[in-house]
This record gives sequence, structure tokens and C-alpha cells, in this order.
Amino acid sequence: MSIQAPIRRMTAPQIRARKGGAPIVSLTSYHAHTAAIVDKHADFILVGDSLGMVMHGMDSTIGVPLDLMIMHGKAVVRGTQRALIVVDMPFGTYEESPNMAFRNAAKIMKETACGAVKLEGGARMAETIRFLSERGIPVMAHIGLTPQSVNTMGGFKVQGRDEAAWQVHIDDALAVAEAGAFALVVEGVVEELADRITAAVDIPTIGIGASKNCDGQILVLEDMLGLNPRVPKFVKVYGDLGPAIERAVEAYAEEVKTRDFPGEGNVYR
Ligand code: KIV
Repeated sequence: MSIQAPIRRMTAPQIRARKGGAPIVSLTSYHAHTAAIVDKHADFILVGDSLGMVMHGMDSTIGVPLDLMIMHGKAVVRGTQRALIVVDMPFGTYEESPNMAFRNAAKIMKETACGAVKLEGGARMAETIRFLSERGIPVMAHIGLTPQSVNTMGGFKVQGRDEAAWQVHIDDALAVAEAGAFALVVEGVVEELADRITAAVDIPTIGIGASKNCDGQILVLEDMLGLNPRVPKFVKVYGDLGPAIERAVEAYAEEVKTRDFPGEGNVYR
């Protein structure tokens, strides 16, 4: 008789320990069924607030409510067994104070059973990251192009084109690492700056539109599957699900219109 060992989920400290080691694979996912597929290959899955734009047709992530993150977080946790699940804290739920951040991060963790939260911001969020980390909440930080700051950045703009600004980003990375973040998403910065950040910090950097030399990479699943008509320039598209879905829907519509499908399925016999 063989006894199967229970599958253990990846933890935040295990991701933290991968600094400089085997590249960390991660993707976003917002639903149980896609998460179950991603779970076979990813070290962590991010329930990103990009779901507001990708799933709900919003123009930015600003309008994403906490309850929506919790609902999608629950679905992704239900659909997975092994990857660490990280849930984004949406705009307006953590910036005001460490206390507010703790209240909302604890709500996310209790209701979804995820293993960590992510929040945007560098040095200005260091106090909050320390407050959460010291109270049992693993925090992934996110610097560079931070989509929740779209209105102050004046758009989704690549950061660090001007070398004079690099030190600010490097200081942001050092501040969140020192405050206890277990990993750091570096989004939309020029390659050399991403490399400097990776070399400067002792926690793994997770690149998105940054550099292949980051300790790991993340992409929005729908972008790399060819499901999003508005993909950022840097994204390599690995699938063509948009056209594939279109072909399937067209074929179905044709069969419905010509009453062609009953013999082949879609009716109980
Ligand atoms: O919301 C999101 O999906 C993200 C990733 C793009 C890193 O923050």
C-alpha cells in the first residue's frame, strides 16, 4: 500500500529563499479553472488587480473594490493546490495607514486563505510593509511602473528612461526589502535599471516588462494567451485563444442557426 504525501503549497519564505537561484515562474489568474492549469507550472499565482481591466473592462485598476479581489482570490485558492497565492490590495485599501492596511490585508487572508498580499509603492510604503510583515502577513512589494498611480504618473509610462531618476527606484527597492517584503515586482522599467535593482536587493525581483535577469518573471495570463486585444508592447504572446474562441463561437452560432447540432450533442437523449 502506498501512502501519498499531501501536496504542500509553496510559501512566501520559500519564494524569498529563491533569490539568485532557479528562476521563479509566475502568472496572474483570476478564476478557478485557469488557476488549476497555471498551478501545475507556477511557483506563485497573483490575483492581480489588473482583473479590473482584463475581466471587468475598466480603464484602470483604480476602481477595483476589495470585495472583488476577495471573490476572485477565493476562486483561485479553490482551484489550486501547490502554488503560493498572492492577492493584490486594491487602490485605497492600504495607503492611508499601517492600521488600515493590516485590517484589509487580514480580511483578504482570512476570507480567501491566500498566502500573501501585494501592494504598490516603494519607500513610502516601507512602514506599512514592516507593520504587516511583523504581524504575520507576507508582503510582496511592487515598484517601477505602478498602475495604481496612473493618474500621478500621467499614464502607463516606462520608468527610468532618465538615468537621473534611477537612484529613487533603487532606494525604493532597498527600502521595501529592508522593511521585510519577501519579494518585489519590478514593472515597466528600463532593462539596466531592473538589473541594478536585482543586484542591489537580497530579495527576489519579479520582472514584468523589466529584464530577463530578474529572479523571476510574471505576465498577465490573458495577455500571453492572446485573449487581450490591448497587450503591452513587451509581452510575448504564447497562445492564440482570442481567435480560437472566436472560431468556436462562430461554429456554434452557425450550427444553432442551421439547427445542425442536435445529433452531435448539446441535447439529452
Ligand atoms: O495586477 C497585476 O496583474 C499586477 C501584475 C501585472 C504584476 O500587478
